[in-house]
Amino acid sequence: MRPSMLPRLAWGLVLVLGAASGCSRHKEAPAPAAGTPVTPPAEAAVAPAPLEPPLSYELRLGKQVFQHYCLTCHGETGAGDGFNAFNVEPHPRDLGDPAFQKAKVDADLKDTVRRGGVGVGLSSGMPPWGKTLTPDQIDQVVGYLRTLKRTDAPPAS
Ligand code: HEC
Repeated sequence: MRPSMLPRLAWGLVLVLGAASGCSRHKEAPAPAAGTPVTPPAEAAVAPAPLEPPLSYELRLGKQVFQHYCLTCHGETGAGDGFNAFNVEPHPRDLGDPAFQKAKVDADLKDTVRRGGVGVGLSSGMPPWGKTLTPDQIDQVVGYLRTLKRTDAPPAS
């Protein structure tokens, strides 16, 4: 083998190892119940920007629902800045606002999602989803709403 191939081989190895460690699907233990603290892997301690703990399976389903149905208005992070947000009056609030999160129990949020703004005394800008989403999907998306954090301020400690 020509010596000039060695660096390339080394890069190949790095890529393969990187891909293997980045693929959480295969090494993932059973998804922790929502709210269970997840011990970060040892390498997170040296990583420059520690990632959020991985979402459980249920929460990933909720994220899919959110991205498919809600993101257009509520925005990627729930901050109320989706591309359609400015067509609805009032604009959706920041769903990650800790004060809002604290003020609402899951049942409130599920009710709003199921019945829409009109069903719970808010505006018609928030559509009802009870005929589109299954009760499980509503549970999942509300679970996912709980993981949203506002991005314009440091998280409340
Ligand atoms: C067409 C735009 C639009 C879409 C799509 C949309 N929403 Fe909304 N949503 C709104 C608006 C506007 C409000 C604020 C209504 C108000 O304050 O009168 C709102 C409010 C809410 C609230 C209540 C916030 C509060 O003030 O109590 C929740 C929870 C919510 N949306 C969740 C969702 C979820 C989950 C989805 C996806 C399944 C979704 N929304 C899709 C526009 C949208």
